[in-house]
Amino acid sequence: MKRRDLIKKVGLAAGTIALNKPMAAMSAVNGHKKQKVLRIAHITDVHIRPEYNAVARFKKCLEMIRKDNVDLILNGGDSIYAADYSDIKKERVLELWSCWKDSVALVKDIPMYSVLGNHDMWWQGKGDELFGKPGVLKMLGLQNNYYSFDKNGWHFIMLDSNHPKTPGMLDDEQWNWFVQDVQSHQDKPTLIMSHYPLLSCTGITDNKPEAIGPFKVEGSYNHLDIMKFIEVFNHNKNIRICLSGHVHLLDKVWYNGVSYLCNGATSGFWWEPGDDGKSSYKQTEPGYSLLNLYNDGSFDDEYIKYETLIK
Ligand SMILES: [Fe+2]
Repeated sequence: MKRRDLIKKVGLAAGTIALNKPMAAMSAVNGHKKQKVLRIAHITDVHIRPEYNAVARFKKCLEMIRKDNVDLILNGGDSIYAADYSDIKKERVLELWSCWKDSVALVKDIPMYSVLGNHDMWWQGKGDELFGKPGVLKMLGLQNNYYSFDKNGWHFIMLDSNHPKTPGMLDDEQWNWFVQDVQSHQDKPTLIMSHYPLLSCTGITDNKPEAIGPFKVEGSYNHLDIMKFIEVFNHNKNIRICLSGHVHLLDKVWYNGVSYLCNGATSGFWWEPGDDGKSSYKQTEPGYSLLNLYNDGSFDDEYIKYETLIK
C-alpha cells in the first residue's frame, strides 16, 4: 500500500469513532459455557419453476430442512426462476409464485426471512400489483425491501442489493439505515444477508480472467460498496457472518474476522442438467446450508447436497 493511501485510511478511521465500541456481545457471555442458540437453514437461488420437476425436488429439500429441526429459514433471493426478462407475461409470473407458495407451504410453521433477488422483480407490468419490488414484497409477505430482527441473542440484517442504477450496492437511504441499525445493535453478534455477495472470489472464478489481469469484477459478484462495509465492520466487531448467493457457486471468504459465505444454489443449474449431467453448476451441486449459531458469537456451517443425499 502506498503511504498516502495509508494516511487517507487512518483519517477515515478517525472520522468514524462513533462506530467504535468493544465487543459487548462477546464479553456478555464471558465465563459462561458456550451454547448453541440457533440452528438455521440458508436456501438461496431456488429459481422455482414448473419445468424439470422442480417443485417436487424443492419439496424434498424442504422436507430435509424440516428434519434438520431448524429455528428459522433464511431465503437469499431469486426465489422464482425469472420474472425480470422483457418477454415475461403476468400469467407466467403468477405461475412461478404459485409454485413457490405450493412448495413453502410445507414449512409454513418455520419462520422464513427473505431478501429480493435480481430475477424476482417483474418490470413489464407497470401499474399492476405484481410490478417491481412492491409485487415481490407482496408475494413474499414482506413489509419492506430491507429490515432487521433479533432472535435468541443474535441480530439479523436483511439487505436489498438491487440498486436501481448500479446493481450490487445500497442506495443512500438504505445505507444510512444500515449504519444506524449496526450502531444500535452493537451488543449482539450479527448476521447480514444479501442476494449479491458483499465479498467473494467467484467474480474471478466464474469468469475467464485475463492471464495478466487486472481482474474485472462486477457488482453482482462483489458489492461495489464493499470498502464502505469493511470500514463499518472494522469498527463493529460484532459482525460475524455475511451470507449471500446469486452466483450458484459455493465460496467462503474470511477477511478481517468476518466470514463471507456465498452459498451454492438450491436449484443448482436452475434445475436443468448441469455440467455433471445432473444439476451442478460448474463444481457446485444443488444444496442448502445449515448454520449453528452460538451465544459467544461463533458459528459453524455445513453445505448439504440434498439431491445427492436423497438419491
Ligand atoms: Fe441472482
